Order: sequence, then C-alpha cells, then structure tokens
Amino acid sequence: TDILGFQHRLLSWAETQGRHDLPWQLNPTPYSVLVSEIMLQQTQVATVIPYFERWMTSFPTIDALAAAEEDHIMAHWQGLGYYSRARNLHKAARYVVEQCDGEFPSDLKGLECIPGVGRYTAGAVMSFAFDRYGPIVDGNVKRLFCRLFAIEGQLASSTVSKRLWSLAEQLTPATDQPLSNRRFAQSLLDMGATLCKPKSPDCTICPLANQCQALASNRVSELPTPKPK
Ligand code: ADE
Repeated sequence: TDILGFQHRLLSWAETQGRHDLPWQLNPTPYSVLVSEIMLQQTQVATVIPYFERWMTSFPTIDALAAAEEDHIMAHWQGLGYYSRARNLHKAARYVVEQCDGEFPSDLKGLECIPGVGRYTAGAVMSFAFDRYGPIVDGNVKRLFCRLFAIEGQLASSTVSKRLWSLAEQLTPATDQPLSNRRFAQSLLDMGATLCKPKSPDCTICPLANQCQALASNRVSELPTPKPK
C-alpha cells in the first residue's frame, strides 16, 4: 500500500469535506474525549451533541465527575440509552482520580487500564487529546478498511479483527511524522461516516477510489461481509 499517499489524500479530503465544528473538537482534553467517545459508541452524533454539552457544563472536570452523585450522573444520561456507559464513566473518573492522581495516563497501555476503556477509546484519547499515535478501529473504520483492502469474512471474527487493527497500526501516522494524529483520526472517522457509508457510498467523489480494492473488483456493495441471518 501507498501509506503516505493514503494519509495525504485522506487529510486533504477532510480539509474541505470533513467535520470541523463538533463540540468535542473545540478544546479536546483526555476527559472531554473520553466523555464524547463513550457517548458516541452507540449513539448518533446529532443526538450526542446536546448531551455532551450539558454533561461538560455540569461535570467540567474529571474531579467533578468523580465527586458527583450517581443519581445526578444518571439524570444527565436519561434518554441516551445503554446506561452502563454512564456508570462506567463514573468508575473511570474515580479510577483516574484515585489511582492516577487525577492525571490521565498518556500512553495506550496506561489508558487501557481505565475501567471501560478498550483499544478503540485508548487510541481515540491518544489521537484527539494528546495528538499522538493512537490507532482507532470503530464501525466506520472497519467498513472503510474492508472495502479499501477487499477484506472478506465476519467483522466479529478474530481473523478479520486482527487484520483491521494491524492495518490501522500501519496506516496511522507516527507521533513524529509531520501529520497531525488528531486530524488523521478525525478524517478517518469522517470519511467512514459520511462518504464510505453502509449504503450507496459516494465512490465517484472518493479520493481513495483509485486504491480501493472493493471498487476495482466491483464488490463495494458486498463488503463488509454482512452478518448471517
Ligand atoms: N464517532 C466516534 N468518534 C467520533 C468523533 N470524534 N467525531 C465524530 N464521530 C465520531
């Protein structure tokens, strides 16, 4: 693969076509990135925005969240669903305050020790908050990579998952490369969400079309492999 070509085409596309005004992009801190990423895990961007803003007003810091009452926290999640996410955020805040002196770890391993923080969320905090190397694979990235590299097989299988994470590790710019890790991560998510959509992706205007293996073999509509019914 032409890694540098991929990175540059992705970032120049996002300069004009990407999202630049989402509230969590304004002043990203490890805490605000954790909150937004947990909210975005199972919920659409448009739904998350007002919840994120209210949350950051009521619990502006990790210390404020750690000290808050569970009922108060749950009231702020009311309507978002998957309520264990809110309880996990509270647990995460208490962990960082009690075990890490209130300072988020600034490496992938340390971040993954936080309750409820997996590989994706750790990578998102590294990229968005620290602007450092942090590979991310979420649903949008899985779809984009499955098409770009014509990867067949169940997304949930360990073979496919290993392949996708290995690609993310190779394609994500290193910390010392002259490409912003923050911009790279946001561009990747934006392209997956808004261009390489599940149905009728916009291949005619895709800057990666010339290196897309699914497009070359006319299999865009077959990839990623659907779940068996
Ligand atoms: N989905 C997950 N993370 C996101 C982000 N930072 N911006 C937009 N959508 C997302």
